Amino acid sequence: MDPSPVLLVAVLASLLLLPPFPFLRADSSSSSGDVVDREALLSLKASMKSDPSGTLASWNESSDLCRWSGVVCNSRSRVSALDLRGLRLTGSVSPYVGNLSYLRFLYLQDNQLSGDLPHQLGGLLHLEVLNASSNLIGGAIPANFSRCFNLTTLDLSQNALSGSIPSDLGLLSKLQVLKLGKNNLTGTIPSAIGNLSSLTTLNLATNALGGPIPGDFGRLHALKVLQIAINHLAGEVPPTLYNLSSLVFLDFASNDLFGEIPGDVGYRLPNLVDFHFCFNQFTGLIPPSLHNVTSIQSLRFSHNFLHGPIPPGLGNLRNLVMYNIGFNQIVSSGADGLQFITSLTNSTRLEHLAIDENLLEGVIPESVGNLSSRLYKLYLGANRIYGCIPASIGQLSSLALLNMSHNSISGGIPPEVGQLRQLRMLGLADNRLSGEIPAAIGNLTMLTELQLRGNQLEGSIPSTLGQLQQLLSIDASSNKLEGSIPRELFTLSSLTSLLNLSKNSLSGPLPEDISDLANVVAIDLSGNMLSGNITPALGNCRSLQILSMSNNSFSGPIPDAIGDLKGLRSIDLSLNQLSGPIPESLGELEGLEYLNLSYNHLEGVVPSDGVFRNLSSVHLEGNSKLCRSSACMNTRNRAKLPLFSIVIVAAFIVFLVASTICVFFVKTRTRAAKISTMTDSTRGQHPLISYEELHRATESFHPRNLVGTGSFGSVYKGVLRDGLQVAVKVLNLAAGGALKSFVAECDALRNARHRNLVKLVTVCLSLDPRNEEFRALVYEFMGNGSLEEWIRGKRRHEDGSGLSLVERLEAAIDVASALDYLHNDCEVPVVHCDLKPSNVVLDAAMTAKVGDFGLAKVLVDVESTTTHGLKGSIGYIPPGALSLSLSLSLSLSLSLSLSLSLSLSLSLSLYCKMHRLRDSFT
Ligand SMILES: *[C@@H]1O[C@H](CO)[C@@H](O)[C@H](O)[C@H]1NC(C)=O
Ligand SMILES: *[C@@H]1O[C@H](CO)[C@@H](O)[C@H](O)[C@H]1NC(C)=O
Ligand SMILES: *[C@@H]1O[C@H](CO)[C@@H](O)[C@H](O)[C@H]1NC(C)=O
Ligand SMILES: *[C@@H]1O[C@H](CO)[C@@H](O)[C@H](O)[C@H]1NC(C)=O
Ligand SMILES: *[C@@H]1O[C@H](CO)[C@@H](O)[C@H](O)[C@H]1NC(C)=O
Ligand SMILES: *[C@@H]1O[C@H](CO)[C@@H](O)[C@H](O)[C@H]1NC(C)=O
Ligand SMILES: *[C@@H]1O[C@H](CO)[C@@H](O)[C@H](O)[C@H]1NC(C)=O
Repeated sequence: MDPSPVLLVAVLASLLLLPPFPFLRADSSSSSGDVVDREALLSLKASMKSDPSGTLASWNESSDLCRWSGVVCNSRSRVSALDLRGLRLTGSVSPYVGNLSYLRFLYLQDNQLSGDLPHQLGGLLHLEVLNASSNLIGGAIPANFSRCFNLTTLDLSQNALSGSIPSDLGLLSKLQVLKLGKNNLTGTIPSAIGNLSSLTTLNLATNALGGPIPGDFGRLHALKVLQIAINHLAGEVPPTLYNLSSLVFLDFASNDLFGEIPGDVGYRLPNLVDFHFCFNQFTGLIPPSLHNVTSIQSLRFSHNFLHGPIPPGLGNLRNLVMYNIGFNQIVSSGADGLQFITSLTNSTRLEHLAIDENLLEGVIPESVGNLSSRLYKLYLGANRIYGCIPASIGQLSSLALLNMSHNSISGGIPPEVGQLRQLRMLGLADNRLSGEIPAAIGNLTMLTELQLRGNQLEGSIPSTLGQLQQLLSIDASSNKLEGSIPRELFTLSSLTSLLNLSKNSLSGPLPEDISDLANVVAIDLSGNMLSGNITPALGNCRSLQILSMSNNSFSGPIPDAIGDLKGLRSIDLSLNQLSGPIPESLGELEGLEYLNLSYNHLEGVVPSDGVFRNLSSVHLEGNSKLCRSSACMNTRNRAKLPLFSIVIVAAFIVFLVASTICVFFVKTRTRAAKISTMTDSTRGQHPLISYEELHRATESFHPRNLVGTGSFGSVYKGVLRDGLQVAVKVLNLAAGGALKSFVAECDALRNARHRNLVKLVTVCLSLDPRNEEFRALVYEFMGNGSLEEWIRGKRRHEDGSGLSLVERLEAAIDVASALDYLHNDCEVPVVHCDLKPSNVVLDAAMTAKVGDFGLAKVLVDVESTTTHGLKGSIGYIPPGALSLSLSLSLSLSLSLSLSLSLSLSLSLSLYCKMHRLRDSFT
């Protein structure tokens, strides 16, 4: 499938050209061509901004260029091959490379080269291989590549190329490999590509190409690999394509293609290995002949409009690894409707079987346990499956995902499920399962997600669930579970997503142990018979955003500690027997959007702050002793002075900069005054987000959406389904400390909400398709980049101007205000630990917000923080850690001598100095 034979030949050829003994080489008195080559290579070296591996250090005047690393010369001491792959080079490709007139092989792949490809490359008439894949190269593909007549391989995939594919590429009659995948190419595919009669590999996947697949493709008789997935190609597949009998790999996934796939495609393409037609609008039947292609490894048809039955013959496909026909209208009927599973038992390499979201009726055959021992994912959900779960399912020892939700499966959950030691996700929701939850489920120690919702499960929840130490989410709602909630369930500190036990018959009190659920985002215990007080220990569930305990028999007061849960967005305690006053602290929850306390026995005065200001968000009916009127309100003076210090900072700056600022001072004061009253109206509505959604939002984490990389991962721009622009920070869990940083960031931001802090929309904890742990933080997207970019002049206003004096001052105030909040107003003080201009970002309205809390410290236990060393980026270590003079001189020297940017660092230093970051960093 890969052009490896071609590459091998190329590499061998270049090795042969390397003189075996240096002393045999022609006299080193340099010919003029040699000088041109030397100059070209030195120019290339000069166009590199960084060379972390130091490979180019050997490229110096004092040595023979044929000995430079990565350089291969021909017998006339002219450069014939240049191999700079995988050196993490940054910079651009110098146009002088076009002077290496004897160059035959140019390998630039796997670097971070940017800029355009110089059109001078078109002058390399001997060029046979050009591989510049996996870089950040932009601009258009130079049309004059067509002059490189001997080109056999052109690989520019995984860059940021734009524009259309030049039709002149069709002149490269020797071209065997053309890879332009994963770019931003637009326009239609030129039909001249059909002239490339030597082509064996054509990859145009993951671009923005439109229009039809050219009929001329039918002339590419040598073609083995055709990948055009993830584009906007529309129309029918040209019938002549199905005559290319050499095709091995055919990938049309995720386009707007329609029409029927010919029934005899398998006879016409007898060498097929991969056949991917998923995410299109194909109609008709699954072509029966495909089940005769014994070489096939991967068949993917999901998300189309295919109907009819699964054709016979699956037993022929011994090499099958993946079979996915999910999300179609495939039918089967009768109890034997799933017998095709039996014929798949001969496919001993099967890893992935997906038949979900179809119209398949039948009983899961006992033979399911004889499927490949490598089976990793089994999707059976949303069909018309009935009968019991066969006990043999416990034999599928490699299974990581088993989803049977949304069927009519009855009987009990077989305890044999507990043998699936690799299982990460178990989905049994919305079926007719009865009996008890087997205690053996507790043996599934790898489980991260357990869905039992919507069945008729009874008895008590087994305490063995407390052994599921990897569990992120459990939903056992809408069953007939009874008894008390086992304490063990509350000791699962891994629970970071959802605990839903609502709509059962659970009774007894809420255990104190709930305080162990420090990471869970949503708890729903509504619709049970739980009683007793709501334990103040709930105040330790610091990640909580959604809390519902309505429709139970809870009594006593609402604990004040709920006000500690700064991330709360929704609270429902309605339909209980709660008494006493509404805690003032509820009014201080800046993020609260929904509060339902109706039908309790609450009394006293309704607080007037926060959520209580917005009557439509608060439900208090059915509490006859509550009083809202100002008549029964004792005047409270809750005025705080959070802005005091800001004003002082501003005054300092005024003092320092000049008297002209007086005018602006008035402006900033009014601005600052708004801070306390403004809460972000556009607060995110995405409590639980999936890997798939982020994958989609960032276009498969496409490099063109990459906005930055840091020590702990990469940040991508993305658009959620509702159009919200977000920045997705994907953690590189392999990097030491990434997980710690993730926790730090979550802790810091879950508890903190302020208009000058970057808003965390949500977090994603999931498994990626390789079943590896995936963690990402999703922030609101900041359209105007970082303060650093502005200070350094990398960003400018549309009229070309930099940050104005007012904007600098406002940014300083914004940052100071965020810091003041973090240190003083946040329930748990947070120290950012890495405050620097690159961590201050600007939104579309040029409001500065503090971001990147990867090193933040939540000052829960002060003693432990004192033993830590200094943290942060050199030059921006918090001034409390150093002496005042040192910190001032540091920030002064780093502020690039611009007197105006100086005002920012001064104000930051002064601000920090004033607060002395009381407790840490000594
Ligand atoms: C030039 O490169 C050679 C290796 O090719 C190295 O040994 C030598 O030290 C380099 N000279 C300078 C001045 O960098
Ligand atoms: C080499 O290439 C550069 C840039 O394309 C060009 O200006 C120069 O004239 C070329 N010729 C020589 C001999 O260097
Ligand atoms: C192109 O390749 C052919 C055959 O390998 C060779 O004879 C010819 O000299 C090459 N042309 C150029 C311009 O390198
Ligand atoms: C294709 O497979 C089916 C089912 O296994 C079989 O009946 C048929 O003979 C096969 N056709 C050919 C042409 O091999
Ligand atoms: C599996 O292969 C064997 C040997 O070719 C064959 O006899 C048997 O019928 C096949 N089983 C199924 C279920 O197709
Ligand atoms: C699985 O769980 C059951 C019930 O908790 C237990 O009796 C059994 O020993 C466990 N099996 C293994 C192999 O640990
Ligand atoms: C891709 O190209 C389109 C059309 O030229 C352009 O609108 C879009 O901004 C580009 N996207 C990226 C990420 O470069």
